[in-house]
Amino acid sequence: MKSVSGTMAFVTGGGSGIGLGIARALAAEGAKVAICDVRDDHLAQAADVAAREGWADRFLALKLDVTDRPGYAKALDEAEAKLGPLQILVNNAGVGIVGPVDEATHADWDWGVGVNLIGVANGLVAGLPRMKAHGLESHVVNTASEGAIMSARLTRGVYAPTKAAVISLTEHLRIELEEKKANIGTSVVCPGPVTTNIAETEQLRPAEFQVDSPFRGGGSHGALPPSTGKGFWLDPLDVGRMTVHAILNDKLYVITHPAFIESVKARHAAIEAAMAPDYLPR
Ligand code: NAI
Repeated sequence: MKSVSGTMAFVTGGGSGIGLGIARALAAEGAKVAICDVRDDHLAQAADVAAREGWADRFLALKLDVTDRPGYAKALDEAEAKLGPLQILVNNAGVGIVGPVDEATHADWDWGVGVNLIGVANGLVAGLPRMKAHGLESHVVNTASEGAIMSARLTRGVYAPTKAAVISLTEHLRIELEEKKANIGTSVVCPGPVTTNIAETEQLRPAEFQVDSPFRGGGSHGALPPSTGKGFWLDPLDVGRMTVHAILNDKLYVITHPAFIESVKARHAAIEAAMAPDYLPR
Protein backbone atom coordinates (compact mmCIF):
# COMPACT_ATOMS: atom_id res chain seq x y z
CA MET A 1 0.00 0.00 0.00
CA LYS A 2 1.29 3.48 -0.75
CA SER A 3 -0.31 4.91 2.40
CA VAL A 4 -2.40 3.66 5.29
CA SER A 5 -3.84 7.10 6.06
CA GLY A 6 -7.65 7.12 6.02
CA THR A 7 -7.91 3.35 5.60
CA MET A 8 -9.72 1.03 8.03
CA ALA A 9 -7.58 -1.53 9.84
CA PHE A 10 -9.09 -4.41 11.82
CA VAL A 11 -6.66 -5.77 14.43
CA THR A 12 -7.44 -8.98 16.31
CA GLY A 13 -6.05 -9.36 19.81
CA GLY A 14 -5.46 -5.63 19.52
CA GLY A 15 -6.13 -4.79 23.16
CA SER A 16 -2.65 -5.69 24.36
CA GLY A 17 0.93 -6.35 23.36
CA ILE A 18 1.91 -6.68 19.71
CA GLY A 19 -1.65 -6.13 18.42
CA LEU A 20 -1.89 -2.86 20.33
CA GLY A 21 1.60 -1.92 19.09
CA ILE A 22 0.50 -2.51 15.49
CA ALA A 23 -2.73 -0.55 16.09
CA ARG A 24 -0.78 2.39 17.54
CA ALA A 25 1.70 2.43 14.66
CA LEU A 26 -1.15 2.32 12.12
CA ALA A 27 -3.05 5.09 13.94
CA ALA A 28 0.10 7.22 14.02
CA GLU A 29 0.11 7.02 10.21
CA GLY A 30 -3.54 8.14 10.02
CA ALA A 31 -5.39 4.81 9.82
CA LYS A 32 -8.81 4.23 11.43
CA VAL A 33 -8.47 1.27 13.75
CA ALA A 34 -11.01 -1.32 14.88
CA ILE A 35 -9.59 -3.43 17.68
CA CYS A 36 -11.12 -6.70 18.74
CA ASP A 37 -10.24 -8.77 21.77
CA VAL A 38 -11.71 -11.31 24.19
CA ARG A 39 -10.57 -9.39 27.27
CA ASP A 40 -12.66 -6.41 28.41
CA ASP A 41 -9.75 -4.95 30.39
CA HIS A 42 -7.56 -5.07 27.28
CA LEU A 43 -10.25 -3.33 25.21
CA ALA A 44 -10.49 -0.64 27.90
CA GLN A 45 -6.70 -0.30 27.89
CA ALA A 46 -6.73 0.22 24.11
CA ALA A 47 -9.44 2.89 24.47
CA ASP A 48 -7.28 4.71 27.03
CA VAL A 49 -4.29 4.59 24.71
CA ALA A 50 -6.34 5.87 21.76
CA ALA A 51 -7.64 8.77 23.88
CA ARG A 52 -4.18 9.62 25.21
CA GLU A 53 -2.60 9.53 21.75
CA GLY A 54 -5.42 11.49 20.07
CA TRP A 55 -6.99 8.90 17.79
CA ALA A 56 -10.14 8.10 19.80
CA ASP A 57 -12.27 9.51 16.97
CA ARG A 58 -10.72 6.92 14.60
CA PHE A 59 -11.06 3.99 17.02
CA LEU A 60 -13.59 1.24 17.65
CA ALA A 61 -13.41 -1.48 20.32
CA LEU A 62 -15.17 -4.78 19.67
CA LYS A 63 -15.52 -7.82 21.89
CA LEU A 64 -14.75 -10.83 19.71
CA ASP A 65 -13.28 -14.28 20.07
CA VAL A 66 -11.63 -15.06 16.72
CA THR A 67 -12.91 -18.65 16.90
CA ASP A 68 -16.50 -17.34 16.76
CA ARG A 69 -17.25 -17.35 13.03
CA PRO A 70 -20.67 -15.63 13.01
CA GLY A 71 -19.34 -13.13 15.57
CA TYR A 72 -16.36 -12.40 13.33
CA ALA A 73 -18.54 -11.48 10.35
CA LYS A 74 -20.73 -9.29 12.58
CA ALA A 75 -17.70 -7.50 14.02
CA LEU A 76 -16.42 -6.77 10.51
CA ASP A 77 -19.88 -5.50 9.52
CA GLU A 78 -19.87 -3.13 12.48
CA ALA A 79 -16.32 -1.94 11.84
CA GLU A 80 -17.08 -1.27 8.17
CA ALA A 81 -20.33 0.54 9.01
CA LYS A 82 -18.55 2.83 11.49
CA LEU A 83 -15.06 3.25 10.03
CA GLY A 84 -15.27 2.39 6.32
CA PRO A 85 -14.23 -0.50 4.09
CA LEU A 86 -11.79 -3.06 5.45
CA GLN A 87 -8.39 -2.43 3.87
CA ILE A 88 -5.95 -3.77 6.48
CA LEU A 89 -6.67 -7.05 8.25
CA VAL A 90 -4.28 -7.92 11.08
CA ASN A 91 -4.77 -11.51 12.23
CA ASN A 92 -2.75 -11.17 15.41
CA ALA A 93 -4.74 -12.80 18.24
CA GLY A 94 -2.90 -15.79 19.59
CA VAL A 95 -2.39 -17.91 22.70
CA GLY A 96 1.10 -18.68 23.96
CA ILE A 97 0.27 -22.25 24.86
CA VAL A 98 3.34 -23.98 26.30
CA GLY A 99 3.97 -27.47 27.62
CA PRO A 100 5.48 -30.85 26.70
CA VAL A 101 4.07 -31.94 23.33
CA ASP A 102 4.33 -35.64 24.23
CA GLU A 103 1.82 -35.01 27.04
CA ALA A 104 -0.53 -32.65 25.15
CA THR A 105 -4.23 -33.47 25.41
CA HIS A 106 -6.92 -33.10 22.76
CA ALA A 107 -8.01 -29.95 24.59
CA ASP A 108 -4.53 -28.39 24.31
CA TRP A 109 -4.40 -29.11 20.60
CA ASP A 110 -7.95 -27.95 19.90
CA TRP A 111 -7.54 -24.69 21.77
CA GLY A 112 -4.04 -23.89 20.48
CA VAL A 113 -4.77 -24.72 16.86
CA GLY A 114 -8.27 -23.24 17.11
CA VAL A 115 -7.07 -19.76 18.07
CA ASN A 116 -3.61 -19.59 16.49
CA LEU A 117 -4.37 -21.17 13.11
CA ILE A 118 -8.15 -21.44 12.61
CA GLY A 119 -8.58 -17.97 14.11
CA VAL A 120 -6.39 -16.64 11.27
CA ALA A 121 -8.31 -18.70 8.72
CA ASN A 122 -11.57 -17.27 10.08
CA GLY A 123 -10.22 -13.77 9.47
CA LEU A 124 -9.29 -14.64 5.90
CA VAL A 125 -12.63 -16.28 5.11
CA ALA A 126 -14.54 -13.31 6.53
CA GLY A 127 -12.22 -10.55 5.33
CA LEU A 128 -10.82 -11.43 1.90
CA PRO A 129 -14.16 -11.35 0.02
CA ARG A 130 -14.73 -7.81 1.33
CA MET A 131 -11.32 -6.66 0.11
CA LYS A 132 -11.79 -8.31 -3.27
CA ALA A 133 -15.27 -6.80 -3.66
CA HIS A 134 -14.25 -3.18 -3.05
CA GLY A 135 -10.98 -3.54 -4.97
CA LEU A 136 -9.19 -0.81 -3.00
CA GLU A 137 -5.51 -1.27 -2.19
CA SER A 138 -5.46 -3.66 0.78
CA HIS A 139 -3.14 -5.72 2.96
CA VAL A 140 -3.31 -8.82 5.16
CA VAL A 141 -0.94 -9.16 8.13
CA ASN A 142 -0.70 -12.45 10.03
CA THR A 143 1.23 -12.73 13.28
CA ALA A 144 3.32 -15.91 13.53
CA SER A 145 6.55 -16.25 15.54
CA GLU A 146 10.27 -16.34 14.95
CA GLY A 147 10.18 -19.51 17.06
CA ALA A 148 8.51 -21.25 14.11
CA ILE A 149 11.58 -20.88 11.88
CA MET A 150 14.20 -21.50 14.56
CA SER A 151 15.47 -24.88 15.76
CA ALA A 152 13.02 -26.73 18.03
CA ARG A 153 12.86 -25.77 21.71
CA LEU A 154 11.39 -27.57 24.70
CA THR A 155 7.72 -26.77 25.55
CA ARG A 156 6.90 -25.26 22.14
CA GLY A 157 5.63 -28.39 20.40
CA VAL A 158 2.03 -27.21 20.09
CA TYR A 159 2.65 -23.47 19.80
CA ALA A 160 5.41 -23.46 17.18
CA PRO A 161 3.59 -25.75 14.69
CA THR A 162 0.56 -23.42 14.76
CA LYS A 163 2.87 -20.52 13.94
CA ALA A 164 4.76 -22.47 11.26
CA ALA A 165 1.37 -23.09 9.65
CA VAL A 166 0.61 -19.35 9.73
CA ILE A 167 3.89 -18.63 7.93
CA SER A 168 3.15 -21.25 5.29
CA LEU A 169 -0.43 -20.08 4.78
CA THR A 170 0.77 -16.48 4.30
CA GLU A 171 3.35 -17.59 1.72
CA HIS A 172 0.67 -19.50 -0.17
CA LEU A 173 -1.87 -16.70 0.14
CA ARG A 174 0.65 -14.27 -1.31
CA ILE A 175 1.20 -16.22 -4.52
CA GLU A 176 -2.56 -16.75 -5.00
CA LEU A 177 -3.28 -13.04 -4.61
CA GLU A 178 -0.38 -12.09 -6.88
CA GLU A 179 -1.57 -14.55 -9.53
CA LYS A 180 -5.05 -13.03 -9.39
CA LYS A 181 -3.73 -9.43 -9.33
CA ALA A 182 -6.01 -8.90 -6.35
CA ASN A 183 -4.45 -5.62 -5.14
CA ILE A 184 -3.99 -7.20 -1.70
CA GLY A 185 -0.52 -7.36 -0.16
CA THR A 186 0.58 -9.85 2.48
CA SER A 187 2.98 -9.91 5.42
CA VAL A 188 3.73 -12.41 8.15
CA VAL A 189 5.13 -10.99 11.38
CA CYS A 190 7.60 -13.32 13.11
CA PRO A 191 8.47 -11.74 16.44
CA GLY A 192 11.18 -12.85 18.82
CA PRO A 193 10.81 -11.84 22.50
CA VAL A 194 8.46 -8.87 22.93
CA THR A 195 7.31 -7.41 26.27
CA THR A 196 3.60 -8.30 26.29
CA ASN A 197 1.02 -10.08 28.44
CA ILE A 198 1.39 -13.42 26.65
CA ALA A 199 2.36 -15.17 29.90
CA GLU A 200 -1.27 -14.64 31.02
CA THR A 201 -2.49 -16.91 28.22
CA GLU A 202 -3.85 -19.68 30.46
CA GLN A 203 -6.35 -17.23 32.01
CA LEU A 204 -8.09 -17.23 28.63
CA ARG A 205 -8.58 -20.99 28.28
CA PRO A 206 -12.33 -21.55 27.71
CA ALA A 207 -14.20 -23.92 30.05
CA GLU A 208 -14.54 -26.68 27.45
CA PHE A 209 -10.73 -26.93 27.15
CA GLN A 210 -10.02 -26.97 30.89
CA VAL A 211 -8.87 -30.57 31.33
CA ASP A 212 -6.09 -32.02 33.44
CA SER A 213 -2.94 -31.20 31.45
CA PRO A 214 0.62 -30.03 32.18
CA PHE A 215 -0.09 -27.13 29.82
CA ARG A 216 -2.56 -25.71 32.34
CA GLY A 217 0.23 -24.38 34.58
CA GLY A 218 1.44 -22.15 31.75
CA GLY A 219 4.62 -24.26 31.54
CA SER A 220 8.06 -22.81 31.26
CA HIS A 221 8.36 -20.42 28.37
CA GLY A 222 11.20 -22.50 27.01
CA ALA A 223 14.87 -21.68 26.87
CA LEU A 224 15.69 -18.91 24.46
CA PRO A 225 19.06 -18.64 22.72
CA PRO A 226 21.42 -16.46 24.79
CA SER A 227 20.39 -12.84 25.29
CA THR A 228 22.04 -10.50 22.84
CA GLY A 229 21.79 -7.56 25.21
CA LYS A 230 20.29 -4.30 23.98
CA GLY A 231 17.17 -4.81 21.92
CA PHE A 232 16.63 -8.39 23.10
CA TRP A 233 13.17 -7.68 24.53
CA LEU A 234 11.42 -5.45 22.02
CA ASP A 235 8.73 -2.90 22.75
CA PRO A 236 5.46 -3.85 20.99
CA LEU A 237 5.33 -0.41 19.36
CA ASP A 238 8.63 -1.16 17.60
CA VAL A 239 7.08 -4.34 16.20
CA GLY A 240 4.12 -2.18 15.13
CA ARG A 241 6.41 0.21 13.28
CA MET A 242 8.20 -2.68 11.55
CA THR A 243 4.79 -4.01 10.51
CA VAL A 244 3.65 -0.68 9.04
CA HIS A 245 6.94 -0.51 7.11
CA ALA A 246 6.20 -4.00 5.71
CA ILE A 247 2.66 -2.95 4.73
CA LEU A 248 3.93 0.14 2.92
CA ASN A 249 6.62 -1.84 1.10
CA ASP A 250 4.68 -5.11 0.67
CA LYS A 251 7.36 -7.10 2.48
CA LEU A 252 6.40 -10.72 3.08
CA TYR A 253 8.47 -11.38 6.20
CA VAL A 254 8.85 -9.23 9.30
CA ILE A 255 11.58 -10.89 11.37
CA THR A 256 12.17 -8.83 14.48
CA HIS A 257 15.29 -10.48 15.91
CA PRO A 258 18.15 -11.03 13.42
CA ALA A 259 20.24 -12.22 16.39
CA PHE A 260 18.56 -15.66 16.16
CA ILE A 261 19.94 -16.31 12.69
CA GLU A 262 22.32 -19.08 13.89
CA SER A 263 19.36 -21.09 15.21
CA VAL A 264 17.56 -20.69 11.86
CA LYS A 265 20.72 -21.66 9.95
CA ALA A 266 21.25 -24.76 12.09
CA ARG A 267 17.76 -25.99 11.28
CA HIS A 268 18.12 -25.27 7.57
CA ALA A 269 21.56 -26.91 7.48
CA ALA A 270 20.03 -30.13 8.87
CA ILE A 271 17.29 -30.02 6.21
CA GLU A 272 19.80 -29.37 3.43
CA ALA A 273 22.04 -32.19 4.67
CA ALA A 274 19.10 -34.58 4.49
CA MET A 275 18.60 -33.58 0.83
CA ALA A 276 21.92 -35.25 -0.04
CA PRO A 277 20.98 -38.70 1.26
CA ASP A 278 23.77 -41.05 2.27
CA TYR A 279 21.45 -44.00 1.72
CA LEU A 280 19.21 -44.68 -1.28
CA PRO A 281 16.91 -47.72 -1.43
CA ARG A 282 17.87 -50.16 -4.20
P1 NAI B 1 -0.79 -10.48 24.58
O1 NAI B 1 -1.38 -11.52 25.46
O2 NAI B 1 -0.22 -9.26 25.18
O3 NAI B 1 -1.85 -10.05 23.47
C1 NAI B 1 -2.69 -10.99 22.83
C2 NAI B 1 -4.12 -10.47 22.84
O4 NAI B 1 -4.92 -11.41 22.13
C3 NAI B 1 -4.68 -10.36 24.25
O5 NAI B 1 -5.26 -9.09 24.45
C4 NAI B 1 -5.71 -11.47 24.31
O6 NAI B 1 -6.79 -11.15 25.17
C5 NAI B 1 -6.13 -11.57 22.87
N1 NAI B 1 -6.69 -12.88 22.52
C6 NAI B 1 -6.28 -14.10 22.91
N2 NAI B 1 -7.08 -15.03 22.42
C7 NAI B 1 -8.01 -14.41 21.68
C8 NAI B 1 -9.12 -14.84 20.92
N3 NAI B 1 -9.45 -16.14 20.84
N4 NAI B 1 -9.85 -13.92 20.24
C9 NAI B 1 -9.55 -12.61 20.34
N5 NAI B 1 -8.54 -12.13 21.07
C10 NAI B 1 -7.77 -13.02 21.73
O7 NAI B 1 0.31 -11.27 23.73
P2 NAI B 1 1.22 -10.85 22.49
O8 NAI B 1 2.55 -11.35 22.80
O9 NAI B 1 1.03 -9.46 22.11
O10 NAI B 1 0.59 -11.80 21.36
C11 NAI B 1 0.20 -11.33 20.09
C12 NAI B 1 0.64 -12.32 19.03
O11 NAI B 1 2.06 -12.32 18.97
C13 NAI B 1 0.23 -13.75 19.32
O12 NAI B 1 -0.24 -14.35 18.12
C14 NAI B 1 1.51 -14.39 19.81
O13 NAI B 1 1.52 -15.76 19.59
C15 NAI B 1 2.53 -13.65 18.97
N6 NAI B 1 3.91 -13.69 19.43
C16 NAI B 1 4.28 -13.09 20.62
C17 NAI B 1 5.63 -13.09 21.01
C18 NAI B 1 6.10 -12.41 22.29
O14 NAI B 1 7.30 -12.50 22.62
N7 NAI B 1 5.28 -11.76 23.02
C19 NAI B 1 6.66 -13.73 20.20
C20 NAI B 1 6.16 -14.32 18.99
C21 NAI B 1 4.85 -14.28 18.63
